Amino acid sequence: MAQYTTHDFDVLVVGAGGAGLRAAIESADLGAKTAVVMKSLLGKAHTVMAEGGAAAALRNADDRDSWQTHFRDTMKGGKQLNYYRMAELHAKEAPDRIQELEDWGAVFDRTPDGLINQRNFGGHTYPRLAHVGDRTGLEMIRTLQDKVVHMNAEIFMEVTITHLFKSNGKACGALAYSRVTGEFHLFRAKAIVLATGGGGKSFAITSNSWEYSGDGQALAWRAGAELLDMEFVQFHPTGMVWPLSVRGTLVTEGVRGEGGVLLNKDGRRFMFDYIPDAFKNDVAATEEEANQWVAEVASGKLATVRRPPELLTRDVVARSIRAEVQAGRGSPHGGAFLDIATRRTADDIKRKLPSMYHQFKQLANVDITKEAMEVGPTCHYMMGGIKVEAETAMTTLPGLFAAGEVAAGLHGANRLGGNSLSDLLVFGRRAGWGAAEYAKKASAGQPAQAEVDQAITENIACFDLKDGENPYTVHKELQDMMQDNVGIVRTDEELRGALKALDTFEARVNKLTVSGARAYNPGWNLAMDLRSMVVVSRAIAMAALERRESRGGHSRIDFPDYDKSFSKINHILTNDNGKMVLRADPLPAVPDELKKFVEEA
Ligand code: FUM
Repeated sequence: MAQYTTHDFDVLVVGAGGAGLRAAIESADLGAKTAVVMKSLLGKAHTVMAEGGAAAALRNADDRDSWQTHFRDTMKGGKQLNYYRMAELHAKEAPDRIQELEDWGAVFDRTPDGLINQRNFGGHTYPRLAHVGDRTGLEMIRTLQDKVVHMNAEIFMEVTITHLFKSNGKACGALAYSRVTGEFHLFRAKAIVLATGGGGKSFAITSNSWEYSGDGQALAWRAGAELLDMEFVQFHPTGMVWPLSVRGTLVTEGVRGEGGVLLNKDGRRFMFDYIPDAFKNDVAATEEEANQWVAEVASGKLATVRRPPELLTRDVVARSIRAEVQAGRGSPHGGAFLDIATRRTADDIKRKLPSMYHQFKQLANVDITKEAMEVGPTCHYMMGGIKVEAETAMTTLPGLFAAGEVAAGLHGANRLGGNSLSDLLVFGRRAGWGAAEYAKKASAGQPAQAEVDQAITENIACFDLKDGENPYTVHKELQDMMQDNVGIVRTDEELRGALKALDTFEARVNKLTVSGARAYNPGWNLAMDLRSMVVVSRAIAMAALERRESRGGHSRIDFPDYDKSFSKINHILTNDNGKMVLRADPLPAVPDELKKFVEEA
């Protein structure tokens, strides 16, 4: 049996994106002995891919904004499947969390009056995204990281959690391995916060990097916590489509927020053709109106007309691009053109969108101050995730907490751009607080020895198996299968096919062969990540099959419309002795004082 090192903490935070770091800061600040364990390096997190800004009703760029409008926009964007209490807390607390970040050293762009500047994004009624050019997530991570290293929290880099343990029905610890040495570590903890992000690596075209294999969702489900609304996966409308080597890399919505327009191969501005009835009052009806909006925004004035249809919610824009491509009007590499060159000056573009300028210049040899970009949908975010309680972020398993993308509820069927950065600040803080308070009353974590031994045996079995498959082959096939059958649009037949295929993938993933030593062995690391990917893929496909309608990030060709019978239902996935089981729960009832905003939405 492999040896392992044991560590004891009050609070174990898994993941060091914005939510994990914010949770660790809170937990350590409250005096809990805190550890942060991350698969990758400090500062390398998908938070960085939320480039365009963090949504908060600060009212700096437009004082007509309010938390109530932010709440309403979030519910409308989420097609009302959001947990209203999470949307309420988020809208109310986001401004304080942004302000706090500034106090900790984040350098936001400024209004002429010296306040934190805010830009427009899809689905937000007013300019609401506090930003740092198009590098907002990066600046947030830099700030949180600087803060956490000065707190009393221990940092474990390149350490991946593979198993959670329970005692007396409560979370009490986790097994991990070091990617660097291959050695095992047992973390005993009174409370655990999962902040591991999403699972985009189950899809072939994604903005996610290698870390995002859905570990947190899979760990939680295996340990008995519930998953919520897993069918809702966000395909960001604008990822790079060319060159192939960088396909899926994010092109920030900030480009459209600054006036960029979408064109098909004939030069037609097609988004006017795809405005859903529910959004007809929200966006410009004509090019003249849309152009006036850009002129007003570019000159720093308050917009007096409606925003362009390129700033419809992401689900709508992604489907519209797909429809143009399907109709034979796509760009040469199967996307659409995104043009900012003819809308803003070269100086504006370089100042407002410096990363995009360099990204296209270096990766595609395209100068975006002169030419249009080629873009298309890319798997970016999971609205579904672990079900949590709004106030404390505790999951349905006592002692286990979750925040950020790994958790669900805030965004409903579709997330508004910019709401993830404020989500992870608001609920990262709440999770750190919830976990630290819980730990004060909990006894020390005591995982059973036999379970720890069994977990290690499972983790190293692939070294002994000589005739199993190569993890890279299985991963590639899983990604292609998910992209084709559970991607941006779905049908009953495809989803049933996917579930059948997933039975086979599960068996294949349990029979992988890995060679070499455990230190620096990416093949072995992928073999373990694949176990999470299969769980998450199954959860998405199961919930998607059951939702026989189209709503937000879930589009069914065979059920293209909203269906009222699904409008007040959340899908919950539970673990029944290793079998995934789905049930439909009624949506929590909205209290009277918020009903008005929900009805408006
Ligand atoms: O387009 C973007 O900058 C992404 C932002 C987000 O996902 O919130």
